[in-house]
Amino acid sequence: MIDRHGRTIRYLRISVTDRCDLRCRYCMAEQMTFLPRAKLLSLDEIAIIAERFIARGVTRIRLSGGEPLVRRDVVDLVKRLGGHVGYGLDELTMTTNGTRLADHADALVAAGVRRINVSLDSRDPERFRYITRHGDVGQVIHGILSARDAGLSVKINMVALKGLNEDEIGSMLSWCVSEGLDLSLIETMPLGAIDEDRVDRFLPLTAVFDTLAAAFPLVRAGHRTGGPARYWQVEGSGTRLGLISPLTANFCDGCNRVRLTTEGKLYMCLGHEDQVDLKAALRNGGIDALDAAIDTGLAIKPARHDFRIEAGSAPAVSRHMSVTGG
Ligand code: GTP
Ligand code: 5AD
Ligand code: SF4
Repeated sequence: MIDRHGRTIRYLRISVTDRCDLRCRYCMAEQMTFLPRAKLLSLDEIAIIAERFIARGVTRIRLSGGEPLVRRDVVDLVKRLGGHVGYGLDELTMTTNGTRLADHADALVAAGVRRINVSLDSRDPERFRYITRHGDVGQVIHGILSARDAGLSVKINMVALKGLNEDEIGSMLSWCVSEGLDLSLIETMPLGAIDEDRVDRFLPLTAVFDTLAAAFPLVRAGHRTGGPARYWQVEGSGTRLGLISPLTANFCDGCNRVRLTTEGKLYMCLGHEDQVDLKAALRNGGIDALDAAIDTGLAIKPARHDFRIEAGSAPAVSRHMSVTGG
């Protein structure tokens, strides 16, 4: 699958639910209206669409949300898609907030998942509670270490937030080194209305990186996933540091991904409204109509996002990250 800018699409990200048991301040408002369950794709429909993408050349699938592990029976979907790993699919991964990870880690491994990303913006209990509004950091860290001990390779996602966790980034990297985890730092992105102005928390990763490079032996490392992160190896350890900097270092030229929402829309870019309705295509016209809708999507994929974070500005898109799974 090649888009109109000549980019090969090999990565499908699937939001299996827009719901979440946390309410991270940069992601969601405290009061959220979620999609009615009647509008959602069934797990079987998600699998049928994902299998069509695999047949058409997608080699990586990431299940995300919202929080994927709050969707009932999601492990059945993981098992079904996990059956394609090694047969068209190179990897099946998940991005999770970790609250329910301890209970699911073994099942994920058994289903063929080898690698997961877990959000952890602070290791300080009070701060973590403040950022997530409801979270218990002990529970999430227990989930992370259980996943690692079950054999999963774990990458921590830390959204860098001015005045909230910026003083903790170095100690987070040290902790990741000592626990055998990778770390990705992420710039906050303007998706969906939240209860504060994102500009007040925006932290450019350029300065953060300079501080880290002075304290850790960082060696530039290659791309592993074709994703947006630029990677460095912490020399002498197994830990990789990734920087996801959509605001300060655009990476859209190499974009290899599209996103399926829980409602069955295929969004062509995180930062635009362009989408095609795969649920309607599948339900009304079957696999041929699904293929035609995917082709339409490839023909309208935008060249790049236009994210800006400025005082008082509205988010670039009105939907939250949880709708498209990040
Ligand atoms: P891998 O490279 O497969 O490990 O995944 P990832 O790091 O892209 O996945 P993850 O779901 O953990 O996302 C980490 C952050 O990257 C989230 O904030 C995503 O929204 C962001 N992200 C992922 N893909 C894109 C993209 O294409 N554009 C932008 N702007 N952000 C992205
Ligand atoms: N900007 C940047 N990252 C975000 N995430 C959620 N909302 C945003 C946002 N507005 C992160 C989560 C999770 C990943 C999928 O995206 O922390 O790690
Ligand atoms: Fe939930 Fe993830 Fe959004 Fe936090 S960032 S509210 S854990 S979807």
